[in-house]
Amino acid sequence: MNPNARQTDSLPAPGPDALAQSEALTALIRAEIAGAGGWLPFSRYMELALYAPGLGYYSGGATKFGRRAEDGSDFVTAPELSPLFAATLARPLAQALADSGTRDLMEFGAGTGKLAAGLLNAFAELGVPFERYTIVDLSGELRERQRATIEANAPALASKVKWLDALPQAFDGVVIGNEVLDAMPVRLVVRKLGAWHERGVVAQNGRFAFDDRLVAGDPLVATIDAAIDEANDELFMEYVTETHEAAMAFTRTVCAMLTRGAAFFIDYGFPRHEFYHAQRAGGTLMCHYRHRAHADPFLYPGLQDITAHVEFTGIAQAGVETGADLLGFTSQARFLMNAGITDVLSDIDPADVKRFLPAANAVQKLLSEAEMGELFKVIAFSRGIADTLDAFASGDRSHTL
Ligand SMILES: C[S@@+](CC[C@H](N)C(=O)[O-])C[C@H]1O[C@@H](n2cnc3c(N)ncnc32)[C@H](O)[C@@H]1O
Repeated sequence: MNPNARQTDSLPAPGPDALAQSEALTALIRAEIAGAGGWLPFSRYMELALYAPGLGYYSGGATKFGRRAEDGSDFVTAPELSPLFAATLARPLAQALADSGTRDLMEFGAGTGKLAAGLLNAFAELGVPFERYTIVDLSGELRERQRATIEANAPALASKVKWLDALPQAFDGVVIGNEVLDAMPVRLVVRKLGAWHERGVVAQNGRFAFDDRLVAGDPLVATIDAAIDEANDELFMEYVTETHEAAMAFTRTVCAMLTRGAAFFIDYGFPRHEFYHAQRAGGTLMCHYRHRAHADPFLYPGLQDITAHVEFTGIAQAGVETGADLLGFTSQARFLMNAGITDVLSDIDPADVKRFLPAANAVQKLLSEAEMGELFKVIAFSRGIADTLDAFASGDRSHTL
C-alpha cells in the first residue's frame, strides 16, 4: 500500500491489480529520482504520474470519466454531463468552419469520445459540410474507447474519424480541446519570505515528499512575482503557485500549426491578475480520486488525476506570439448562452419529463456561477476569420487577459 494513503484514509482503496500498477509506477518514478541525483521537478513527477507509458493515469487502464464513484470513475466533464454541451458547442464551431472556409475538425484529448460523437451528429443535423474529424490524444489507451463510443452513437459518421499520433505541419480547420490544458504538467514554485523556490519531489523514508530549491533569474517567475505584488498588498509568509510551461508550449504548437481556421480551448482557470491572487496563496493543484478532490499528488500514483487551473493570460500570449489572432475569451456560461444553449434545450418537449429534467439540470450545472459557468472559460484563436463569432458577441473578456 502507498504510505501516503494515510493522509487520505477515508478514500476507497483500489483493487489489487490497480495497486500493482501504482506500485510499478512508483518504482519507476523512484528510479528516475535516483537517476536525477535525488530531486525531480514536480512537473516531471506529474508527467510520469499522468502519462508514463502503460502506467500513468491517462495512459494506463483507470476508468477516469463517469458520473459516480461506484463506476470506478474519478470526475465528470461537460461532454459526459450532457449531450447538450456538444450540441451547443457545434454552433460556434460550425460558424468558425464557415467563416474560414474550412472543412476539417481536430480534437485534442478526446476522453471517452462523447464530444466527438455529439459534434458529428450535430454537424449532420445542422447540415455543416465537413470532411474529417481527427483525434489527437496522448493516451493511446483511450483510442479504443473513443472508437466504440463513436461507432455506437454516430455510426453513419464514424468513417470520418481518424486518429493521429503526431501533429501535421499545417492544418486548415477548427481545433477543439475540452479540459486538455488543465491536464498538462505544471511546475510548482514557492515564494518564502521573498525568495523563490522550485518545488521538487524526493523519495524519503519510503515515500515521496516535496523539497524546495532556490531559483534565480527565471523570467516567468519574475512575471509572477510582479503579478502577485500588484494584485495583493499582503506580504505572504509562503505563496505556492504553478507555472504552465507545457500548456503554453502546446498552445504555441497548435497555433503555429493552424494555417487557416480557429482553435478553441475550454477549461477552468483565470486571467493572470486573478490567478496570482491572495486567495490562491496555496496554488490550484488538485487531485481527483473517485469523485473526491484532495491535495495529495503522491496518493496512489497513476490511479488519480492531478490537475491545475489554467493561467489564461499566458495561454493568450503563447497563441498570439505565433501570429494567430485572439478570437475571444469569455466564461463558459456566456459562451454557451450566446451560442444558443437555451434554444437547444427548448428542442426537448418539457412534457417528456424523462428527457427534459436531466437536460435542464445539466444546463443549470453548465451555466451556474456556483458550478461550471464562471470558473470555466473559453479561449479561442484564429487565422483568416474576419468577424466576431456570435458566441463571443457579448461579454467578451479579452481585455482582462
Ligand atoms: C481531463 S481529460 C479531458 C477529456 C475530454 N476532453 C473530456 O472533456 O471529457 C484530458 C485529456 O487530455 C489529454 N491530453 C493531455 N495532454 C495532451 C496533449 N499534449 N495532446 C493531446 N492530448 C492530451 C489526456 O490524455 C486526456 O485524455
